[in-house]
Amino acid sequence: MRNLTEQNLTDAVIAKFANSTDPRFKQIMTSLVRHLHDFVREVELTEAEWFEGIKFLTATGQKCDDERQEFILLSDTLGISMLVDAINHRMPSGATESTVLGPFYRAGAPEIEMGGTIAQTDDGDPAYVSGRVTSPDGKPVPGALLDIWQTAPNGLYETQDQDQPDYNLRGQLHTDKDGRYAFRTVIPVSYPVPTDGPVGRMLKAMGRHPMRPAHIHFVITAPGYERLATHLFAEGDKYLDSDAVFGVKNSLVVKFEQNTSQDMAKKLGFKKAPFYTTHFDFGLKPAA
Ligand code: BEZ
Ligand code: FE
Repeated sequence: MRNLTEQNLTDAVIAKFANSTDPRFKQIMTSLVRHLHDFVREVELTEAEWFEGIKFLTATGQKCDDERQEFILLSDTLGISMLVDAINHRMPSGATESTVLGPFYRAGAPEIEMGGTIAQTDDGDPAYVSGRVTSPDGKPVPGALLDIWQTAPNGLYETQDQDQPDYNLRGQLHTDKDGRYAFRTVIPVSYPVPTDGPVGRMLKAMGRHPMRPAHIHFVITAPGYERLATHLFAEGDKYLDSDAVFGVKNSLVVKFEQNTSQDMAKKLGFKKAPFYTTHFDFGLKPAA
């Protein structure tokens, strides 16, 4: 193994995986090396460009801590996260489509009662979200756990904003015996993914905006079913066709309808009308 060339270097590196005991590791690494080498050959990478790449990946790692995952953001903004999601969650008809989890999930959100609120302040336009969780053939799933989170009207998750109460706009809720759920919140708003790191510089260099269309996150779990990580997106948002992380699916876009009834507002637990309502039924895929 001497005098390796542009032509035979790739095979020499791949041959080094011959003794790998884990076949899946071998398959993944072989393919990764082949694609990386082909990429370097295709663009004829200069040494200066190679070093820029090293600096970019180093900065991406250095931006990560317990609360910030710049590598996941890189994966999200390059469409890798949604590609992995698509491959791993091929849904049968009747099951709700999944989308990107994102980096702002936080475990341990307070459990709310049916129709309870996840909003701990009076900011924003009040909204009532309700529906059912079912199997693909429409049978109710009682006792399913919905873990819900969203930004405040200022576009920030509570973990990004010291002025919000702990766990503001996060909550967990179980479906009732008919598979029903209902909670109060505020109308979600569009907001930018974090841009103060290398991924933000990359988006700028690509001439891309960092915005995500308004959405509410859900992770839904129930015994006997696959975990569903998804969003409900607000119809009419101007970023639905240019989501910075490629996560929008038509089937997840809902309309928030205005309701002006003071009686209904009181009944649902709002201080006053107007408020907004939306309805969505989630279908869970049975576990394999
Ligand atoms: C989010 O929706 O919370 C999110 C998803 C991907 C990247 C950044 C934020
Ligand atoms: Fe989000």
